[in-house]
Amino acid sequence: MLQKIDDESCCKPQVNYPTHWNKVYLNTEIEKLGWYENNPQKTVELIEQCNLPKEALLFIPGAGATTLVDELVNRDFSNIIANDISEAALIKLKERVGKTNAVTYIIDDLTKPRKLPQIDEIDLWVDRAVLHFFLTEDEQDAYFTLVKKLIKPKGYIILVEFNLEGAKKCSGLDVVNYNEAMLQQKLGEEFNLINSFNYTYVNPSGGERPYVYTLFQRK
Ligand SMILES: C[S@@+](CC[C@H](N)C(=O)[O-])C[C@H]1O[C@@H](n2cnc3c(N)ncnc32)[C@H](O)[C@@H]1O
Repeated sequence: MLQKIDDESCCKPQVNYPTHWNKVYLNTEIEKLGWYENNPQKTVELIEQCNLPKEALLFIPGAGATTLVDELVNRDFSNIIANDISEAALIKLKERVGKTNAVTYIIDDLTKPRKLPQIDEIDLWVDRAVLHFFLTEDEQDAYFTLVKKLIKPKGYIILVEFNLEGAKKCSGLDVVNYNEAMLQQKLGEEFNLINSFNYTYVNPSGGERPYVYTLFQRK
């Protein structure tokens, strides 16, 4: 007799995420990616608000090939960790940023981290358009467990995710849409909201990406 299958997730094709993201970065010019920014101005405004010393440890999870890393190096920050699940992304980023001791590159999966739990405590975590790809509670819990393990007391976290008006998919993958209250709920009472706004980023091809920008500080 055939057994009834209740769990619909069994029928969804499994995505191999490192392969998915490596293909994205190998098959598309960086400047053509929908999330590419010539100038990461809004994120930089929040970073400036933190008033951190140049030797502060800045962690960029899911960095991809973001120009934020170049910007931070140009601003003389000397202790930056860029992470991604995609080796191809970090190779492209490293090529563009050029030789510098200021940046360490770590390939690791934020939802099953193996190397990241060993890094030093960080002063600032800057996620732009990464958390929203984590669909299951297990993935989200793993991410926030890492946040709470790594961020120092009085340290900061910037979370920039698709807001409630934002896309429901990106790069062919489903996303979770957030507002400030949902992000506060995930971080818990240990983190105070310092700033938050909605901002629709328009990429060089004219594509609109409505994001919620948030800055929290740990107590
Ligand atoms: C939409 S892109 C944003 C890239 C970058 N933050 C920016 O603003 O340009 C999402 C990034 O998250 C990375 N990513 C997706 N899942 C990840 C995971 N589980 N662990 C680490 N990085 C991941 C992807 O490879 C990709 O570079």
